[in-house]
Amino acid sequence: MSPVSVLLIEDNPMDAFDVNEALPAHEGFVVDRATALLSGIEKAMARRYGVTLLDLGLPDSTGLETLREFRARAADVPVVVLTGHRDEQLGIEALRLGAQDYLVKGRDTESIPRAVRYAIEREEAQRRLANATRVAHQQERVAALGTIVAGVAHEINNPLTYIRGNVELSILSLAAIVQHAELEPHLLDEAKEAARLQGAVLEGLDRISKLSRSLRRLTRGDSNERRPVDLSEVAAQVAEIVVAEHAGHLDVKLDLQPVPPVLGDEAEIFQVFLNLLLNAVQALPRGGRVTIRTRHREKRVVAEVEDDGPGIPPEAQPHLFTPFFTTKAEGTGLGLSVSHKIATDHGGTLTFATGGRGTTFTLDLPEAGA
Ligand SMILES: Nc1ncnc2c1ncn2[C@@H]1O[C@H](COP(=O)(O)OP(=O)(O)OP(=O)(O)O)[C@@H](O)[C@H]1O
Ligand SMILES: [Mg+2]
Repeated sequence: MSPVSVLLIEDNPMDAFDVNEALPAHEGFVVDRATALLSGIEKAMARRYGVTLLDLGLPDSTGLETLREFRARAADVPVVVLTGHRDEQLGIEALRLGAQDYLVKGRDTESIPRAVRYAIEREEAQRRLANATRVAHQQERVAALGTIVAGVAHEINNPLTYIRGNVELSILSLAAIVQHAELEPHLLDEAKEAARLQGAVLEGLDRISKLSRSLRRLTRGDSNERRPVDLSEVAAQVAEIVVAEHAGHLDVKLDLQPVPPVLGDEAEIFQVFLNLLLNAVQALPRGGRVTIRTRHREKRVVAEVEDDGPGIPPEAQPHLFTPFFTTKAEGTGLGLSVSHKIATDHGGTLTFATGGRGTTFTLDLPEAGA
């Protein structure tokens, strides 16, 4: 049995002797003693004992107040109280105040070793239960919040659809007016300006629907559409789109090997590559090199997006996958958190390595059938 350190707070030398006899060193007990409540509390705060045996009649405190005071100051040590024959009732009340057990002096001497070991076990079990309950509550809260966010994101999408439709129609009307009507020159300018403003409205709408899609992705559970997806192919498609937009000042190198398919949602995997590639591009405002690599490694398909940008500062690194963490004026901070969720939903990982010179994000997914 593992050794047990016991703090005995007892002023009466005869009673202390009995307890010491009942808890011999050769059975693994190490007993330390204090003769008053205050010195006992000091000892309990100075080091962690397995259990405290607390006499309720001490020179500086008597009765339940002794236990209350002790627990208030040395809260997480299990306590077994010691009472006399005539105040066994006190022992029972002590249980209600959080004592693990009580022993009647002179009578229960033989039970001391068992009471000590039980008290430790029970306290540990209670602590584990409290922890598990706390974690469960937290998970419930997060799940509830997720449901609310998903609901709100969904509700936002419906009006967005008809706002978008109406704006598009009114742009067409304005275009017709501009083309066909014999307007006063200043009215013509007004109509052109209105069409320009409507264009800006559309851009805003697109940002809102992108945000609400990301939020829904973040709060949704496992994805449903699973088909064989070729990471090299998706990487090439995404690269083509991004390169077309940033041709000139970017050197994008594709190092794509034939890889077995992974089982997944192609649109989501596309989104991961897009997020990683956009981040790489955004890290290189004055140009630079981006390399996209795919490899087959022991039943896994690994894709890397590497840039030779400034790297990610150490203080930002712990927060990259936290929703809404961004260092960009125009960023939503959802790109990496959504990508991370997609990777884990596919049974894979998304990790990064970064230093003074450049950053590499690695998407690692199991090959189909693995
Ligand atoms: N390749 C990279 N190099 C340097 N910093 C990066 C890189 N990728 C991500 N980061 C940092 O991580 C932050 C979070 O990235 P994330 O993609 O989640 O959000 P965002 O790019 O800021 O906004 P969003 O992707 O939603 O438009 C970025 O703001 C940036 O500070
Ligand atoms: Mg991003």
